[in-house]
Amino acid sequence: MSFLKIEKLKKSFGKVDVLKGIDLEIEEGGFLVLVGPSGCGKSTLLNTIAGLEAITSGSISINGKVVNDLHPSQRDIAMVFQSYALYPNMTVAQNIGFGMEIRGVAKAERDAAIAKVAETLQIGALLDRKPSQLSGGQRQRVAMGRALVRDPLVFLFDEPLSNLDAKLRVDMRTEIKRLHQRMGTTIVYVTHDQIEAMTLATRIAVLKDGVLQQFGTPAEIYNKPANLFVADFMGSPSMNLIPATVEVDGGKVGISMQRDEGQPLLLPLGNSAGGLASRHGQKVVFGIRPEALTDLDSADRNATQVSELDCEIEVIEPAGSDTFAVTRLGGREIVARLRADAPIAAGQTARLAFNLDKALLFDPETQERIL
Ligand SMILES: Nc1ncnc2c1ncn2[C@@H]1O[C@H](COP(=O)(O)OP(=O)(O)OP(=O)(O)O)[C@@H](O)[C@H]1O
Ligand SMILES: [Mg+2]
Repeated sequence: MSFLKIEKLKKSFGKVDVLKGIDLEIEEGGFLVLVGPSGCGKSTLLNTIAGLEAITSGSISINGKVVNDLHPSQRDIAMVFQSYALYPNMTVAQNIGFGMEIRGVAKAERDAAIAKVAETLQIGALLDRKPSQLSGGQRQRVAMGRALVRDPLVFLFDEPLSNLDAKLRVDMRTEIKRLHQRMGTTIVYVTHDQIEAMTLATRIAVLKDGVLQQFGTPAEIYNKPANLFVADFMGSPSMNLIPATVEVDGGKVGISMQRDEGQPLLLPLGNSAGGLASRHGQKVVFGIRPEALTDLDSADRNATQVSELDCEIEVIEPAGSDTFAVTRLGGREIVARLRADAPIAAGQTARLAFNLDKALLFDPETQERIL
């Protein structure tokens, strides 16, 4: 049974419809990550779950109980806000313990809980400081501490790591994952960060303009995006999306793409594309992630359908563990992922391997994935 269930949820501010009928559910102990462009309604959705915003229609239930009309304090939820505010005149310890103090928890119990959270978040040495004496990252951890000190039904996090530097962000990401594994509390988490979404989530919901685009496991969202928006939004660097035409020859399905010079390029698709035979001559968008486009040595040995192709390399971008190469196909700039020391330089022609097992096709009219 789902622990948190959101059905046909709509939220309007005056005439502006911000959430346009959202259906989502997550099991107990699940980690639901909400992603989507700025302004798509992520924080609004979180605020409706918390009860900070009244919903226009639909329903929200937690642990089998509809909470639509429950006051935030009765929902047993702990939230870390996008713009967290600490009490400036209280110490770190007082900030973390304030909620418990309000609820009348005894001092000894409070102190023990504060010490435990401080250890987890590595802010033990800061407990007597005021917020003004902390760095941004330290303040953010204190804000997390205020939520973690509780044992709620659901944690809601709104971009809790957004103000941290890259290193601390990665450390905290691991820490949050560890916390989740240990506590097993249900979490709903908003982020802009692809990697955060992929690494933390048991389920990802992709939102655009208040409409749910796809709801699935990280692997489903990444490997089988429902439409062009999800395909383009998830993954870094983004999926290559190239205009192409379906070619059917003797029952074999392939796609052709324009090249800058010479004949169009014809790529064969595997048997899984058999269902597209009726689409001969139709325009499609060919999607392939950078990691399925590699130097020959890095090609996936287990792939069944690989095409090799000479490509003009325009730009080389070393990224440490691997190198990205920019080339061009079908009038589009595309990105290939090479191993770090691949002997390929800008301005050269290099032979690249296309792993067509990973090829996706989209209908440019409906934007939906068709392969
Ligand atoms: N109180 C409000 N009154 C009117 N419009 C609002 C209100 N709160 C949010 N909105 C609008 O609702 C839309 C969604 O806002 P929301 O804060 O949920 O977006 P978001 O996905 O969290 O964006 P970001 O990633 O930038 O935080 C935006 O267009 C915003 O302007
Ligand atoms: Mg927001």
